[in-house]
Amino acid sequence: MTAIPAFITFSAVILNLFCQVYSSDAWSTHAIDANFSRASEDADLESMYQANLGADLIHWKHTSQRIGRKFTLSDLVWQLQHTTWSPYLGVLIVKNGSVSRVVSSNILLFAQNRMSRMQRALIELQANGTSIPDTIMLINGEDVPICYRMHGCKAPIFTLFKRVSDKRGSSSSEQKLDCDHDRAESSVDCVGSYHQEEFEDTEILLPNFSQDWGHLHNFPWQDKYSAALLRGSLQHSMGVESSRYQLSLLSQGSSQASTLLDAGIVWNRNRQLKLPKNLMRNFVGMSNASRWRFLISTDGHTASSRLGHLLGVNSVVLKEKSLWVEYFYRSLKPGKEYLEFEVPSVLKLLDKITNPKRDSQMRSIALAGQHFSYRYLHARAKALYTRQAILQYNMLFEDMEEMVGRLPNLQQSGIKLRDLVGYLSDLTIGGM
Ligand SMILES: *[C@@H]1O[C@H](CO)[C@@H](O)[C@H](O)[C@H]1NC(C)=O
Ligand SMILES: *[C@@H]1O[C@H](CO)[C@@H](O)[C@H](O)[C@H]1NC(C)=O
Ligand SMILES: *[C@@H]1O[C@H](CO)[C@@H](O)[C@H](O)[C@H]1NC(C)=O
Ligand SMILES: *[C@@H]1O[C@H](CO)[C@@H](O)[C@H](O)[C@H]1NC(C)=O
Ligand SMILES: *[C@@H]1O[C@H](CO)[C@@H](O)[C@H](O)[C@H]1NC(C)=O
Repeated sequence: MTAIPAFITFSAVILNLFCQVYSSDAWSTHAIDANFSRASEDADLESMYQANLGADLIHWKHTSQRIGRKFTLSDLVWQLQHTTWSPYLGVLIVKNGSVSRVVSSNILLFAQNRMSRMQRALIELQANGTSIPDTIMLINGEDVPICYRMHGCKAPIFTLFKRVSDKRGSSSSEQKLDCDHDRAESSVDCVGSYHQEEFEDTEILLPNFSQDWGHLHNFPWQDKYSAALLRGSLQHSMGVESSRYQLSLLSQGSSQASTLLDAGIVWNRNRQLKLPKNLMRNFVGMSNASRWRFLISTDGHTASSRLGHLLGVNSVVLKEKSLWVEYFYRSLKPGKEYLEFEVPSVLKLLDKITNPKRDSQMRSIALAGQHFSYRYLHARAKALYTRQAILQYNMLFEDMEEMVGRLPNLQQSGIKLRDLVGYLSDLTIGGM
């Protein structure tokens, strides 16, 4: 009989123990704090609408004031004609309760899928008894916004990621204040200094219906590793200067760093870059990630859509400071539902927050983040947000209902984008 190497028996024992201790109910995707509640009506989402949708609409309300009138079908048609070059563009039309999507014949499959998920969500909301107002909306299904590449848009376009300049100033004071308790270091060290060009995209953001962040992940807080985990891919646009690369490098820099930070690249999609082997790490699924007390979210090509998923774990999310946002980010406050960091000061921050004196504070941030995810990032809340965006967008136009009334019935027609543009152009010449 061959002897079983000691380390195998040892890890088998550990694994066995692990399974006994963390049976399914300890390590669960369902355990919900008794106080958690879902936002399921407009009234529950009012603050969400204001902080996000409201902010997106400011540019368009100002534009309307400047030109001295509301937007018209002609503005919309002009915009459509100047945007059909994009293989990510779709038009969503709601007319008397039927929700249609018109796309160009060369639309990329994933952009098409993004549109059809949104369409299905609106149909479902309607089936549940909430009517969707008539509308025509232009939707950019690409990860990056589109208006800045056309030197601005004349009518609003919807998109999923954009940049907003950092004007928060006072609202990040909560985290700074907290850091001030530690007199040894200045408050600035807690978040680092931040200088990035002020830039705002003008699109209106919509929720991402490809995500299903409905599930929470829990692991007993006291048994979590008191360290931070980062797993991510390098996208084709990301190089050595990206924070994912930098954090992976940093975690190897010293034994103190590797104790506090387990960071690595799962997949390298940048063909120009030869990634050192020691920066590669295995994928860690969400239930295993819940074993780390701190989970890092960094930008990818744009904002990382994983943020919503990480918030659903009962760990503290450490989010890189960034201009990139999805529709809901402006409802989150650093120091409340997550902590903000920048690469140069992340080890200092980790050193601070892994201090047992901070344990209850960290625990409440983890809980607040998880509650946010539970309350706002589920399918119905996203569908209601989209409906609200339609309502408020419509109000920017002279008479959206009349415009839609002049459209043919699209439900079964299989009309292509080119035909729609032609049809609408004729309408603007013929009438209005
Ligand atoms: C739940 O809410 C009640 C009443 O608002 C409060 O007393 C209690 O501390 C809360 N529990 C948790 C775990 O936050
Ligand atoms: C709108 O839809 C309802 C029910 O689906 C239908 O009864 C009605 O005739 C439609 N109205 C128009 C103007 O098409
Ligand atoms: C519609 O109702 C079903 C059943 O109550 C629910 O599971 C689903 O989330 C609802 N969807 C929307 C978009 O309201
Ligand atoms: C939406 O979420 C999915 C799943 O996380 C992600 O792959 C995609 O990049 C996100 N963005 C858009 C624009 O769909
Ligand atoms: C969690 O990690 C263990 C050990 O690496 C692995 O065997 C297991 O498949 C992982 N579970 C999930 C859901 O990824």
